[in-house]
This record gives sequence, structure tokens and C-alpha cells, in this order.
Amino acid sequence: MKRGTTVYLYELAWILPSFAIPIGMLVALVVTAFGAGVHLPGNEGRVDPRTVGQTGPFAEPGVVQIAPGQYEVRMTAQIWSFAPSEIRVPAGSTVHFWATSKDVVHGFLIPKHIVNVMLLPGQIAHAQVRFDQPGEFPIICHEYCGIAHHTMAGRVIVEARR
Ligand code: CUA
Repeated sequence: MKRGTTVYLYELAWILPSFAIPIGMLVALVVTAFGAGVHLPGNEGRVDPRTVGQTGPFAEPGVVQIAPGQYEVRMTAQIWSFAPSEIRVPAGSTVHFWATSKDVVHGFLIPKHIVNVMLLPGQIAHAQVRFDQPGEFPIICHEYCGIAHHTMAGRVIVEARR
């Protein structure tokens, strides 16, 4: 009887976590998805990569101020450049990047800031970042996109407030 009880406890020690862990993960998934609003990126919209340069939101890439301290950047990537290649904002600005590729898969990385996405033809990518520190920050393509991939870069210039 005593021996049987011991075996039962060992079994219980394995059975309970094997239920508790997946239930805990499911709860964490539901809380982060519906409570904290954490979702996978990528559902920002689609464009036709063949006409993206002529019509639609990416026909004229550039920087637009949408509110005090808020900027919107419409950006296209193509071999081997970003348009616009230079973005100038005052320190403390929040920049909403909307970006897509006109040809092949490119990357879009701003080191030390939370911008690290792939730019896929036909797919719109979105990233939002606040630039507090004045300085010059590179925009880097970090997906291999052909022979001059290593030259594909732009920059963000964050100007000190006067
Ligand atoms: Cu574009 Cu690498």
C-alpha cells in the first residue's frame, strides 16, 4: 500500500505539469493576443508591386508631418536603394514607417531602434519608432538582394531641438 502510494505521487508529479504547462501557455497566448494586443506583423495591407511606383500610397515616397511630433514615412525599396534615402526629423519625433518593395525581397533595419522588418513585393510593412537621441542613424538592407546588396542603405538624421 505504501509503495503504491509513492508510485502514484510520482505519476501525479508528471501528470499535473503536463496539463498545467500547456494550459498556462494557452492562457498566456490569449492574454497577450486579446489583452495586450500583441500580433504578428504582416497584415498591414497589400499593393501591386508592378504599379506601386505609379499609383497608390507609394507613388510619391517621402516624409510627411501628420501631427506635432508625428511623422509618416512612405518608403519604397528597390535594387539597390531606399526612397527616400534620407529622412530628417527633430529629436523626440515618432515616425510611422510604411514601406514596401518594388522588386525583390529587401530588409529594413535601423540599428538601436525597433525597426527590423522584411520588405516583400506586394506586401506593406509597418514600423513605428520614436527618435529621442539626436544623431545620424543608418537604414540598412539586411536581406540579400543581389550583387550590390551591401551598398543599399539610407539614413535617418535626428536633429537636436532648438
Ligand atoms: Cu536590398 Cu539587400
